[in-house]
Amino acid sequence: MKNGLEDVIAAETQLSDVDGEAGRLVIRGVSLEHLVDDASYEDVVILLLGGLIEGNLQKEELRRRLGHMRTEVFADIRTIDDHILELPPVDIMRALIARLPDGDDLEAALRLLAAPAVFLPAILRLKNGDKPIAPSSSLSQSADILAMLGGGLPSAEKVKALDAYLVTISDHGLNASTFASRVIASTGAGLTSSVLGAIGALKGPLHGGAPGPVLDMLDAIGTQENAKAWLNQALDRGERLMGFGHRVYRVRDPRADALKLALKPLIEAGQVDRERTELASAVEQAALAILKERKPDRPLDVNVEFYTALLLDALGFPRDAFTGVFAIGRTIGWIAHAREQALKGRLIRPRSVYVGPLPRAA
Ligand code: ACO
Repeated sequence: MKNGLEDVIAAETQLSDVDGEAGRLVIRGVSLEHLVDDASYEDVVILLLGGLIEGNLQKEELRRRLGHMRTEVFADIRTIDDHILELPPVDIMRALIARLPDGDDLEAALRLLAAPAVFLPAILRLKNGDKPIAPSSSLSQSADILAMLGGGLPSAEKVKALDAYLVTISDHGLNASTFASRVIASTGAGLTSSVLGAIGALKGPLHGGAPGPVLDMLDAIGTQENAKAWLNQALDRGERLMGFGHRVYRVRDPRADALKLALKPLIEAGQVDRERTELASAVEQAALAILKERKPDRPLDVNVEFYTALLLDALGFPRDAFTGVFAIGRTIGWIAHAREQALKGRLIRPRSVYVGPLPRAA
């Protein structure tokens, strides 16, 4: 057994394939670079859930039902009190999702897809002392998230960029949160329990909690000239550079490039702080050179979180909300894996090796 279960195969899946040597991600037979080009969030929901859940998964019908579900779950934000509002956004989302009924059908799945998309913008507005904005059932999920966040109709570039983000991170093999979702599904607990467990796994800094710290790092570095010295000092202190390294990828994470590309139209439309993107580019180059020099035995490259930070910042999400946006996008992957596990798998129950003291002889 390897610590961290590296290289252990723990499930068969038709949902996604992560090729860490080639730097390739395939989601249900479609390469990420093709998928991200023209798929919306709703398209990827249909792609991932197809054959795993009963019900009508036609695009217009799905969009209508998802919109209706957003309106329904909006009522739940009444339960956010001052006490819970003190928690980080992702913890508030977790608490609100815990109130939803468990279930295994399309209705339960759609409720779980709608809930985080509605809860996060409302939480952020309440934290700012603003009134939450009600969802619009006629909008797409991405357009509605941005509308609930800032009020008014978002630009087409922003909607496309958020769609690209949600599609890019929709599923990614047996990552820690997806594994958690499958373990819970294997007990027959239901989709809400799977999603809750997965959110708990996602929020750690080694998984979905990294993009906020990426921006902190860029702020701390401040100028392009300071990048090399700052990064070396961080490594001297034994710290890890956020947004770099991955358990599976030994080359560049293809999601980083998909998000870098998604940022381009926003940059061209003048909707991104150009200075920040130039600094990020310089930090990326400096970090790659330093990691190569200091960790010659471990190929370390950019991961998805580096460009996530820049993209979500450009879309107006505060950095403490980035993990919550990740949860909005990954919920479809968690649900699809939970359904696949429930339909085709058995109870997941590995064994451990006991290394504790032996009982004393009588
Ligand atoms: N910065 C500096 N050194 C690193 C980094 C990093 N970001 N990542 C790994 N290393 C080094 C380790 O220190 C270790 O070096 P050593 O052998 O000299 O001690 C070596 O690379 C191997 O590290 P592991 O811990 O075995 O790598 P693992 O596969 O467990 O880690 C992880 C993967 C957790 C993503 C790691 O690269 C990391 O901590 N990165 C920073 C946090 C981050 O960006 N997380 C988001 C990941 S993407 C996602 O989950 C969506």
